[in-house]
Amino acid sequence: MASPTQQSHPPDNQPLWWQYGVVYQIYIRSFQDTNGDGLGDLGGIIQRLDYISDTLGVDAIWITPFYPSPMVDFGYDISDYTDVDPRFGDLVTFKWLLDEAHRHGLKVIVDYVPNHTSSEHPWFKESRSSCDNPRRNWYTWRDPQADGSPPNNWLSVFGGSAWTWDATTAQYYLHSFHREQPDLNWRNPAVQAAMFDVARFWLELGVDGFRIDVALLIMKDPELRDNPPDPDPEPVWVRTMGPWALQLHVHDLAHPDVHRVYREFRQLLDSYSATQPRMSVGELHDRDLSMWASYYGQRLDELHMPFNFHLLGVEWNTTIIQRLVDAVEAALPERAWPNWVLGNHDQSRIASRVGAEHARLAMMLLLTLRGTPTLYYGDELGMPDVLIAPEDAQDPWERNAPGQGFGRDPERTPMLWDAGPNAGFCPPDTRPWLPLAPQAERLNVAAQLADPHSMLTLTRRLLQLRRTTPALSIGSYRAWNEVPDDCVVYVRSDGAEQYVIILNFAYEERQIELPSCWRGVIRISTCGDRHDEDVRGTLRIRRSEGVILGLAVGADQPEADGA
Ligand code: NOJ
Ligand code: CA
Repeated sequence: MASPTQQSHPPDNQPLWWQYGVVYQIYIRSFQDTNGDGLGDLGGIIQRLDYISDTLGVDAIWITPFYPSPMVDFGYDISDYTDVDPRFGDLVTFKWLLDEAHRHGLKVIVDYVPNHTSSEHPWFKESRSSCDNPRRNWYTWRDPQADGSPPNNWLSVFGGSAWTWDATTAQYYLHSFHREQPDLNWRNPAVQAAMFDVARFWLELGVDGFRIDVALLIMKDPELRDNPPDPDPEPVWVRTMGPWALQLHVHDLAHPDVHRVYREFRQLLDSYSATQPRMSVGELHDRDLSMWASYYGQRLDELHMPFNFHLLGVEWNTTIIQRLVDAVEAALPERAWPNWVLGNHDQSRIASRVGAEHARLAMMLLLTLRGTPTLYYGDELGMPDVLIAPEDAQDPWERNAPGQGFGRDPERTPMLWDAGPNAGFCPPDTRPWLPLAPQAERLNVAAQLADPHSMLTLTRRLLQLRRTTPALSIGSYRAWNEVPDDCVVYVRSDGAEQYVIILNFAYEERQIELPSCWRGVIRISTCGDRHDEDVRGTLRIRRSEGVILGLAVGADQPEADGA
């Protein structure tokens, strides 16, 4: 648990929006339906901008894919990168949303899905039409092995081989996900040029950034060698990813050539950033922290941030969490800006992973660690995973491997707005695309706004304090380890401003001896009380309680462990 060094490196000059801000992820299908088809849409996001910017108080939204798609993987199978699926709206509505979001002071991040298209994309239709089609080499086609089997042992994340036989030209094509999501061949310069044009299209329209889907998959071993088995597979990965997690993915992703692509992508973003700073955040999973950190680029010239998913996979245990936070801080290249994630559309919700009581601690952790938090819609309400009956399953992963727990529908259910029919997500006589959480009546936004002790009220307070407190947004981080084992304590500072975050994971009270030089005031307790309580000497902290303590200006700093 030792963290001898203070991690600061606050951004150079003026911190930028993606550094001090909080990002709110909107899974568009489930946010707000405005036309009565049971699916969320762009108009629904426009309708809820006041909630996002004023009531909740975040700084940016990331909207999951809204492009034309056969919806085999709910929009991550794109058939036209530069348009809007009519189920979600049209380009005019998107532009309207962008302008309205900007008017509300919100930045807009959109998904960029470079690794694969839909099999319905015109590029793939041409590619599969004949071996000598000019777009043949836009995807990866190979002959079968002598016995007719696929060219190598690579697996689809969704189950089975990553190769599908195509009778038209008697070859296999590669797909890291569903067979209707063929992988683009980024080693073909024409593909990179076409995909960079896609980015230009959205940048010119005015988007502020991209969330890059499976960012590392675009560069694979050019010889397509077999992956070796993983001699020590991580149990959590096996549980959540199935057979895919039993291989070492040394050849089917993260080939070092991927760095060149992201350096060039960064140059593209930079060329649009003079008056409007643009950013990229890459979806990538790498257990090895130094590999993970390498995607910032040696000169911070690749991704603005590789998503930091490390809190998602670890045990909910203070020693492990403290060690992880310190390890992430230590792995960061000089001046790289961290970020933290506790939930998204591919992971069981935090309230289900750690329970409702600890979800409050988790929110305090997410919003007070050093780095940009990405907050998944509905987590501000403490929404849990929803049990989906087999006949209601939508996710292709669940349908490919029913009942094995890989399905992602439980964390994608409709947002709960009020106590009315369908919780205000869609009209009363409409069937939402996924069932609502059974706790809708208690957890909805309207009910929680009226409750001073609700999860939403806590989240709003945390966001508000963070927004008005540089120590909590861009300040430095220092672990403080003189605490009981089941507590996590750290200090955030900016100049004279110091805040101590104390999280008690135990299901019973703990007492913490604060350094005698500390005089503080509790600014927020996860229990919704104690605000403005003066603290000195011994701090009594209740079961599952987290507090943010503002230290009086001039209070001496305690020494970090090992310093
Ligand atoms: C990652 C996305 O988050 C997930 O939802 C999707 O299924 C895969 N990439 C494939 O695009
Ligand atoms: Ca709709």
